[in-house]
Amino acid sequence: MYQILNDKPEKVATLSGIDFIYPDAKGGVAALQGVNLDINEGEFVCVLGPSGCGKSTLLKIIAGFLKPSCGEARMGNEIIKGPDWHRGVMFQDPTLYPWLNVQDNIAFGLKMRKFPQSQIKRITDQYIELVGLKGFEKSKPYELSGGMKQRASLARTLVNKPTMLLMDEPFGALDALTRQNMQDLVREIWMKTGNTVLLITHDVDEALALATRIIVMSRSPGRILKEFAAEFTYRISGSEHEMVRYKPEYMELREEILKIISSQNERLKLSQHNPKILLERK
Ligand SMILES: Nc1ncnc2c1ncn2[C@@H]1O[C@H](COP(=O)(O)OP(=O)(O)OP(=O)(O)O)[C@@H](O)[C@H]1O
Ligand SMILES: [Mg+2]
Repeated sequence: MYQILNDKPEKVATLSGIDFIYPDAKGGVAALQGVNLDINEGEFVCVLGPSGCGKSTLLKIIAGFLKPSCGEARMGNEIIKGPDWHRGVMFQDPTLYPWLNVQDNIAFGLKMRKFPQSQIKRITDQYIELVGLKGFEKSKPYELSGGMKQRASLARTLVNKPTMLLMDEPFGALDALTRQNMQDLVREIWMKTGNTVLLITHDVDEALALATRIIVMSRSPGRILKEFAAEFTYRISGSEHEMVRYKPEYMELREEILKIISSQNERLKLSQHNPKILLERK
């Protein structure tokens, strides 16, 4: 199943000229510099880049947790002024209330939004089924495995039907097999719902397995270095399955992305020996 893109895709979020500086005693840490990015409806955007390059900062700006030091972040035509349920956020650590069971954790957002009880039950059941947690409705978070907690977290986010799903290394703490199961689940949900997704990852194979667009960032202060269109996610979900990873076009793109990332790490190593390199870049 290939997505048919319109000539003029609908923009869901727009970042224009974003700088972000974390204040500190020495005048601030520049985390992002001149970031411009349009995220279109139905896209699955994966962001890759060296550690500390500003990936989480970028996600937090779109989520509305941080306000850019310079530039504008918009959702549709509106400036993002704070977090809201149109943008669902998922982090590496599952966000579940330990004293609530799976069902009540998932229902939480709808209760806050004062949905009628009967509707809450119906929607919650639907998402419990979707993430494969049927039979665990009454379990408390401490009774669940890491993967199950992330499934519950995902349902808790999706239940609000966010326009955009923002995920910051959501599977980073999971073992390889659970991680792949979660990737398959997220892909399946994305294909079913047509949601717009932005996912941050350290793992180039995760990006290649899920993205329709891959964004590679420079080391700190983060800038967008390069973007790649990708379509392996459709092929993995189709008849080729995991065999796609052995195709020359997959390996070529993987190699190209890894080269860019490792050249960034080389720059870091060199700049530690010769601080002039950092200055030259600016
Ligand atoms: N609250 C903070 N206060 C000061 N500096 C911060 C803060 N959060 C992040 N930074 C700095 O901003 C830069 C970007 O951080 P960010 O967490 O966005 O990077 P990242 O790409 O997500 O890293 P990682 O891949 O390790 O998660 C880093 O230099 C980091 O040290
Ligand atoms: Mg991060």
